[in-house]
Amino acid sequence: MMTEFIGTHGIGAHDIGAINRQIIAAVAAMKSKRGNMAWRDLPYNQDEIVNDIVSYVNELKDSIEAFVVLGIGGSALGPMAVQQAVNHPYYNELPRDKRNYPKFYVADNVDPERLVYLFQNIDPAKCLFNVISKSGSTSETMSQFMIIKQLLEEKIGKEAAKSHIVCTTDKEKGNLITIAKQEGYKTFFIPSAVGGRFSELTPVGLLPAAFCGVNIAELLRGAAKMDETCNNGDIYANPAYMYAILHYIAFTKGKNMSVMMPYADSLKYIADWYAQLWAESLGKKYDNYGNVVNTGSTPVKSLGVTDQHSQVQLYAEGPFDKIIVFMGVDHYRETITIPQLYGDMPSLGFLGGVTHNKLIQTEQMATEYALLKQGKPNMTITLPEVNENTIGQILYFFEVATAFAGELLDIDAFNQPGVEEGKNAAYAMFGRPGYEEKKKELEARPPKSEKYII
Ligand code: PA5
Repeated sequence: MMTEFIGTHGIGAHDIGAINRQIIAAVAAMKSKRGNMAWRDLPYNQDEIVNDIVSYVNELKDSIEAFVVLGIGGSALGPMAVQQAVNHPYYNELPRDKRNYPKFYVADNVDPERLVYLFQNIDPAKCLFNVISKSGSTSETMSQFMIIKQLLEEKIGKEAAKSHIVCTTDKEKGNLITIAKQEGYKTFFIPSAVGGRFSELTPVGLLPAAFCGVNIAELLRGAAKMDETCNNGDIYANPAYMYAILHYIAFTKGKNMSVMMPYADSLKYIADWYAQLWAESLGKKYDNYGNVVNTGSTPVKSLGVTDQHSQVQLYAEGPFDKIIVFMGVDHYRETITIPQLYGDMPSLGFLGGVTHNKLIQTEQMATEYALLKQGKPNMTITLPEVNENTIGQILYFFEVATAFAGELLDIDAFNQPGVEEGKNAAYAMFGRPGYEEKKKELEARPPKSEKYII
């Protein structure tokens, strides 16, 4: 990232000095607002919840074939990311005695083909459906819930259906908690002060993870460990603050894209989860004083080495408008060695006896070098290994980095008015009661025929 390595487009000590006032203000804000950032307490205050989840999972795991998450955005990306990171990549295809836990599915989209195909693959009567919605009103999730509720009731009767649905929602607000109480569904709660994309370490993520055999206590221990590291006001000793500072400075120099490029299939969905966290938290029209700023940094998902063969050409030789964040792994959980074949062919022979572990790491270093040579800002985060502890650490790391970036940008990183606008417009289009004004507003928009393409 630094000038001494990449020259003109790098960052120098003077760049950090130049934003000293913002840094001091942001560090102070992170300290003074800590009490209002309920997500920061999650590594410490959930012993009881973890016990409750673990005993619930142990009670049910052997009697169900699949655990299905119904949720979207912050209520789906974390569960997917953690399961993919920690578990076997072909988890669902493993025989039951190797998996030991139910199969895992997430139905986040409302593509009409999605649920139909899912039902062709699972028997709902042998599944547990986890409806996850903080607001309890998200159309996508609630529509899936209604479809599944009816299907279950038709198939196994109203009473039996109840034990196949578990809700994760706000304790007091929203339709889902009302329904859960009426029906008597088992319920886990999302602390009201924790927003969707910061909720992975609540039952939103903990329950699905535990149903896939993930050690959730270890996940939280990892987060606690990272909290100790990232609770330091010294920016040179706080990796999350430095991550945000480097992004912020680069951003002020026109580099407003953040490419997340893990070199491990297991981390692919961590990049998806990060994309939501970074985009939805930092993309804002107004600053904290109501000025129009239209700020933000665009996250891009990439996978090493796969995307070396698709996106890296752009990153190496394209515009100076992005930071590439490599995420490497020191110790992969498996090793595979390339056999000593074709020794007489120099362009293949050199691979003989090399492990894929070495190959992927070398290719990562080679790509880092290719970017360095072109003066392209890039940084590398290395996980010693992918496991519950390091995943807890990395999730928490990005949450703190995002919150700190929000402070530097002087915006509210915890709201999402742009997302709400779309949700509200959809409600109005369906004529949902209470959205009459929004409907009028929509009706006043130019008809499609007045647009350029007829
Ligand atoms: O981060 C957010 O707030 C959003 O992505 C929400 O998680 C998403 O819209 C789903 O909302 P809910 O959990 O209320 O159904």
